[in-house]
Amino acid sequence: MDGTEDVQDVAAIASREAELVAEIEGAPDLAALEALRVRLLGRSGEVTRRLKALGALPPEKRKEVGAALNALRDTLTDRINARRAALERAALTARLASERIDVSLPPRPAPAGGQESGVIHPISRTIEEIAAIFGAMGFRLAEGPDIETDWYNFGALNIPPHHPARAEHDTFYLPPAPNGETRVLRTHTSPVQIRTLLANPPPVRIIALGRTYRADHDATHSPMFHQCEGLAIDRTLTLGHLKGCLIDFLRAFFDMPNLPVRFRASYFPFTEPSMEVDIGWNRRTGEIGAGGDWLEILGSGMVHPRVLANCGVDPTEWQGFAFGMGIERLTMLKWGINDLRLFFENDVRWLSHYGASPFRPAALQEGL
Ligand code: PHE
Repeated sequence: MDGTEDVQDVAAIASREAELVAEIEGAPDLAALEALRVRLLGRSGEVTRRLKALGALPPEKRKEVGAALNALRDTLTDRINARRAALERAALTARLASERIDVSLPPRPAPAGGQESGVIHPISRTIEEIAAIFGAMGFRLAEGPDIETDWYNFGALNIPPHHPARAEHDTFYLPPAPNGETRVLRTHTSPVQIRTLLANPPPVRIIALGRTYRADHDATHSPMFHQCEGLAIDRTLTLGHLKGCLIDFLRAFFDMPNLPVRFRASYFPFTEPSMEVDIGWNRRTGEIGAGGDWLEILGSGMVHPRVLANCGVDPTEWQGFAFGMGIERLTMLKWGINDLRLFFENDVRWLSHYGASPFRPAALQEGL
């Protein structure tokens, strides 16, 4: 029997079921199985056709054969679904096997005269070095978003509306947040001080490394640049700790145990007192550490009591210091790079010259 005669009795249906189940089990792939499903259960498929023909049978037979056909339809549906799942599993297994990557293969040989591997961008390298030095002093890494509200970037840092410090920042303003708050691209990493203090009660000791933005573009300014912020709050931290911390940092970073460092009174709204930090250099040759000239390299100070209070920290109980520095500037000085735009041009020759080996991670004990 091949189903074309449609013998409508229970015994014939049972033997037909055995044939069809065998056919389903033998379907070689998903396409063949789908064709079979349409041939059996589709709108003019064999089982559908048999069900439609029930009306021609005498009533007593109709009941018996109807039940058998319904059972046949259910069995075939279940078997087809099971076979489909099995075929899908097999297809996935085959695909995973064929797409396996052999990680033991040797790397592709470099082109003649080319280098064996990529390199770490000098900005990333400086970031790793800064993290290694402050990490050894017990600072942990903190993060904040590039898109800030006016309050985090300015207000909480004691820079109220119309404060002249805002004009110096050449801020990129964004459309306001849905709740009406003014949004900006952060002009410095100092808002991470606020976020850190709000999220963690002191004592805290963090550095924040990341992108910052100001509408400024020339050989020493880029609209996007990187800063490192530091914040240490405890019960008894003083200006002495601030000085010791930054002198140690600068001498480790420039790898010069005797690098001259000078602290000069300055002003930031969020620190009091505030100090600009200079290192010794030679203005004529650009050489660091010699020559009797001074070069400003970072801003620092004791965190203003109003900033602490804005973060819910009691300024009569807690005090500490903060500092901020430009990562491009530090990198340019360390490697004698004279144009900041080179960092972002992605010239492979320049990158391979100034880039660092990925196989030598920044580590203090290696002398950076
Ligand atoms: N946020 C300041 C700037 O971008 C730097 C700074 C940070 C100064 C922390 C003091 C303390 O210029």
